[in-house]
Amino acid sequence: MGTTSSALVMLFALFFIERLEFICSSANSNVSCIASEREALMKIKGNLTDEANRLSSWVGKDCCTWKGVGCSNKTGHVVKLDLRNPIPATNGPSTAYFDPIFKMNELSGQVSPSLLDLNHLHYLDLSMNNMQISNSLGSLKSLRYLDLSSSISDETIPPHLGNLSRLQYLNLSNNDLRGPIPDTLGRLASLTVLDLSSNNLNDSMLYSLCNLSSLVHIDLSDTSHRGAIPHCLGNLASLSILRLNYNQLQGPIPSEMGNMTQLKELDLSQNQFEGPIPSEIGNMTQLTELHLNSNAFAYEIPNSMRNLCNLRVLDLSENKFTGKLSTSVGSPFGCIHNSLEDFCLDDKSSDGDHKHVDESNVADETDFLWFYTGIGPVPGWVLGGLWHFEFQEVLEVCILPVH
Ligand SMILES: *[C@@H]1O[C@H](CO)[C@@H](O)[C@H](O)[C@H]1NC(C)=O
Ligand SMILES: *[C@@H]1O[C@H](CO)[C@@H](O)[C@H](O)[C@H]1NC(C)=O
Ligand SMILES: *[C@@H]1O[C@H](CO)[C@@H](O)[C@H](O)[C@H]1NC(C)=O
Ligand SMILES: *[C@@H]1O[C@H](CO)[C@@H](O)[C@H](O)[C@H]1NC(C)=O
Ligand SMILES: *[C@@H]1O[C@H](CO)[C@@H](O)[C@H](O)[C@H]1NC(C)=O
Ligand SMILES: *[C@@H]1O[C@H](CO)[C@@H](O)[C@H](O)[C@H]1NC(C)=O
Ligand SMILES: *[C@@H]1O[C@H](CO)[C@@H](O)[C@H](O)[C@H]1NC(C)=O
Ligand SMILES: *[C@@H]1O[C@H](CO)[C@@H](O)[C@H](O)[C@H]1NC(C)=O
Ligand SMILES: *[C@@H]1O[C@H](CO)[C@@H](O)[C@H](O)[C@H]1NC(C)=O
Repeated sequence: MGTTSSALVMLFALFFIERLEFICSSANSNVSCIASEREALMKIKGNLTDEANRLSSWVGKDCCTWKGVGCSNKTGHVVKLDLRNPIPATNGPSTAYFDPIFKMNELSGQVSPSLLDLNHLHYLDLSMNNMQISNSLGSLKSLRYLDLSSSISDETIPPHLGNLSRLQYLNLSNNDLRGPIPDTLGRLASLTVLDLSSNNLNDSMLYSLCNLSSLVHIDLSDTSHRGAIPHCLGNLASLSILRLNYNQLQGPIPSEMGNMTQLKELDLSQNQFEGPIPSEIGNMTQLTELHLNSNAFAYEIPNSMRNLCNLRVLDLSENKFTGKLSTSVGSPFGCIHNSLEDFCLDDKSSDGDHKHVDESNVADETDFLWFYTGIGPVPGWVLGGLWHFEFQEVLEVCILPVH
């Protein structure tokens, strides 16, 4: 999953940095802090436990020079507050909790209601801390960027977030949030990035996202979602990344999803999807990663998949497909074959965990490469017993050319 997503996140990071260019947080600024906002920041600091002394620069009059605080050089208002834990979670947020240096750098405690006095904030990042926010952030009407990932312990997604009509980036991942996605989120018309991954949103309310036509990136992986993908999700024609993996979603893939022609990464793995892959998948010609593994998809793989010429990662393992596959003309793998080849060769040099089909194992008298995709027939003369098991385990099925 790595490259596309980090490139995209980077893109957004640059985008936001650019948008916030007017921020001054350095000493050459000539606008000093607005007194009431300095008071608010002091109250926020006063309520937080700061073991690593991260807020030691929060002294003196000019709050615009304090670490993590940014002011508009036009109005002097605080427009940015970035209190993200600076210690990177090397192996993902879940392991960070066992890292003593990370823990020490957490800010913890109740976020003072004075946060709401900073009502010109465009950018708020409280991620990777251990905070409670009991007040409605819905009044911070100027917010464009809100990152509360791995930081809060609220019970549910606060419905008032739907009042943030300018919000472009919302990250609530890894917070153990419960209950449904509030339908008020369907009002966030400017939203381009929504990450709710790793929560417990057991009620499927995906349809509340269907009108958010600016969305480019949705991550709802590992959110305990049930039910079917609503047909209206196909309205989201600008989507580039859609991750719904590791849920309990059911039913077929709606054919309307073929309207998502900008999609670069689609991850539906580890659900209970069934039925055939709709032939409309061939309309997603920008796809570079397609993860459909560990579902109950059945029938033959549609021939339209031969149109997916940009595909670099394809995982169809652990399904119930039938039929045989080959890389020759007339098979579902028209040009996929070539693009995947590059991926495999690149990746082989690194020491990732993924097992790949090894070129040297391929019988050299054939120009077909078949691979195991589920319960369908396995041509033993190519695969052999060993391969049979390998393909069940591989995360990324790569097809290499046969000489
Ligand atoms: C604010 O500062 C930036 C650089 O720090 C500068 O490019 C911009 O012109 C300034 N804006 C105003 C309104 O002074
Ligand atoms: C700040 O503003 C004062 C006048 O209000 C001016 O004399 C001074 O040069 C300015 N400093 C900078 C760094 O722009
Ligand atoms: C936050 O700080 C204020 C004083 O500024 C205090 O009255 C209040 O009890 C504190 N709240 C918490 C939850 O610590
Ligand atoms: C936010 O929206 C809710 C409705 O979802 C409304 O009742 C509430 O007054 C709004 N709050 C703010 C602070 O704008
Ligand atoms: C959301 O936050 C998590 C943890 O900080 C981060 O790993 C993830 O990349 C963020 N999601 C997006 C889409 O930026
Ligand atoms: C979701 O979980 C809550 C308790 O956490 C429960 O009351 C509710 O019935 C669950 N909803 C579904 C659809 O399972
Ligand atoms: C989407 O927009 C349409 C038309 O404005 C509206 O009728 C519908 O209720 C909206 N759906 C959701 C889930 O907000
Ligand atoms: C979406 O796809 C369906 C069928 O797959 C089609 O009937 C519909 O017109 C498409 N909608 C848009 C907005 O392109
Ligand atoms: C989408 O796919 C379907 C089925 O493969 C095809 O009939 C249709 O023409 C495609 N639409 C577009 C816009 O490519």
